[in-house]
Amino acid sequence: MEKYPGKKKIAIFISGRGSNLKSLIKSSKRKNSLFKIILVISNNLDAPGLKYATKSKIKKFGIRYKSRSYFESQSIKILKRYKIDLLCLAGFMKILSGSFIKKFSKPILNIHPSLLPKYKGLNTHLRAIKNKDKFAGASVHKVNQRLDSGKIILQKKIKILKKDNIKSLKRKVLVIEHEIYPKAIVKFLTNL
Ligand code: GRF
Repeated sequence: MEKYPGKKKIAIFISGRGSNLKSLIKSSKRKNSLFKIILVISNNLDAPGLKYATKSKIKKFGIRYKSRSYFESQSIKILKRYKIDLLCLAGFMKILSGSFIKKFSKPILNIHPSLLPKYKGLNTHLRAIKNKDKFAGASVHKVNQRLDSGKIILQKKIKILKKDNIKSLKRKVLVIEHEIYPKAIVKFLTNL
């Protein structure tokens, strides 16, 4: 018997604060949610975000990042054991190898704090301000072997105001991240 009939089983990888994890947990608790968060894995054993898993009685695993292959082989075992359908990266600050993506064989999504394809990688807000961009935003995309380059599932943009600095922009973009990640998952799952 399926334990969660009709719901896709999601695992989340985090590295730190976990505010996106928190928003995904909130959305997964809605009555008609299409997904259930089964477990959280962090490469950082002290990640503050792990507390949200504890609070919501979601299984959590801290896997020391001794090496990429160590972290990935331990994670794959867990993902397979729990028959995970979709992996969501939420503030996960490591790059997954092509071999992990292949072995896992299920889709992987990521949230990135820029309007991709602009500003792949780090320091997105700094670059947007330096370039005097009019807009910033966030993107949810599929993960492939190239950094922040997979198919875009959902994006939202906001205006960069004259008075904005890195801190204020980060804060505004984070609000958007929390809004679009659950929506992007639903969009993705309903288009599978
Ligand atoms: C987010 O801005 C995410 O897009 C980026 O790192 C930050 C993580 O925030 N990759 P949190 O851990 O979800 O609070």
